[in-house]
Amino acid sequence: MATTKRFLVAIIGVGGVGKCFLQQLHALATRRSSPKLDLVYISTSKKSIYNKDYSPIEIEGVAEVLARSSQAPPPTDELVDYLAAAPAPVVLVDNTSSQDIADSYPLFLSRGVNIITPNKKAFSGSYALWDAIFSAAETSGAKVFHESSVGAGLPVISTLKDLIETGDKVNRIEGVFSGTMSFLFNSFAPTEGSGGKWSDEVRRAKELGYTEPDPRDDLNGLDVARKLTILARLAGLPVASPTSFPVQSLIPKELESCASGEEFLDKLPQFDKQMEQTKNEAEAEGKVVRFVGSIDIPSKTVKVGLEKFDRGHPIASLKGSDNIISFYTDRYGSNPLIVQGAGAGGEVTAMGVTSDLLKTIV
Ligand SMILES: NC(=O)c1ccc[n+]([C@@H]2O[C@H](COP(=O)([O-])OP(=O)(O)OC[C@H]3O[C@@H](n4cnc5c(N)ncnc54)[C@H](OP(=O)(O)O)[C@@H]3O)[C@@H](O)[C@H]2O)c1
Repeated sequence: MATTKRFLVAIIGVGGVGKCFLQQLHALATRRSSPKLDLVYISTSKKSIYNKDYSPIEIEGVAEVLARSSQAPPPTDELVDYLAAAPAPVVLVDNTSSQDIADSYPLFLSRGVNIITPNKKAFSGSYALWDAIFSAAETSGAKVFHESSVGAGLPVISTLKDLIETGDKVNRIEGVFSGTMSFLFNSFAPTEGSGGKWSDEVRRAKELGYTEPDPRDDLNGLDVARKLTILARLAGLPVASPTSFPVQSLIPKELESCASGEEFLDKLPQFDKQMEQTKNEAEAEGKVVRFVGSIDIPSKTVKVGLEKFDRGHPIASLKGSDNIISFYTDRYGSNPLIVQGAGAGGEVTAMGVTSDLLKTIV
């Protein structure tokens, strides 16, 4: 089979992950002579760099050059035409969290443009979009990879696909899928010692940069629900949306309408009693409480929320803001295959994107 000698890379999004990806792309393009990797397009929401004749853009220092660019990005249909007419295969790297860009994947894929992304939106939104993406890819032969959409660079999606494609039967997937929730519960209900007050831990997590600017965006459980939606669909369950199964929100009803994250943090101490009671109930059974997601495939059950675990359980003894994902399968029996480590951060997330690039260009 003839091998492609050159791949063209187009990047949308140059934030925390995008900047790390650029460094990894530069190192990869320098290290590997074949296939040759040429950057032909890069943009943020307001700026872009590309050449009509597809001549390569210097990767080193491109983020700074882009910041000074006065060229606005083209409309999506023009970008699709530009990339589809390129003189070599193209990989579009979506390093944004944009729903609009996610909605346009079927268009890019149907025109033969490969897609790799850490953006969860396309794969955890409507099932119709999921279907359109994979149908377009199948028809055109373009590839789509999204390893970093669950567990950042941890090999979660590739492990699940490998288990399924090698004929194992996956029965249950369970784990801690949010670095924020991991950090919060490892501090609030540690396996040793008593831990802090819930509201203090939430404030501390915010100050250390572990939460979104408004911590309610982590505490509502939706981020975990999106990741579960992706894994459940890959495991063959046609989950309609991240709100189509039970998701426990840790935002007290009374604080849902707070005007700001700061007001929420100020009022949260009034509700510490509820979380303290949950912690004490677990302690009385010799357990600790953790915020987990689980997918039970035979019963087609997906859920996200608080659960109690024995102190010696791998989920209980997680450290810092790590993620842990356990795959219970026929082959692995009662000792699950476990993937564990940092589930957030620019470098590790970009690693997942770069490894998707390597899979695309083989
Ligand atoms: N950071 C992590 O630890 C982590 C972990 C796992 C997954 N992810 C995922 O990785 C993706 C990127 O995360 P990040 O932390 O790098 O985000 P970020 O720092 O906010 O950067 C986002 C970048 O995307 C650009 N962008 C946003 N909307 C756009 C649009 N409609 N068109 C063109 N460019 C657009 C932004 O440009 P402007 O500045 O011009 O808006 C910015 O350059 C997200 O989907 C996130 O969920 C991140």
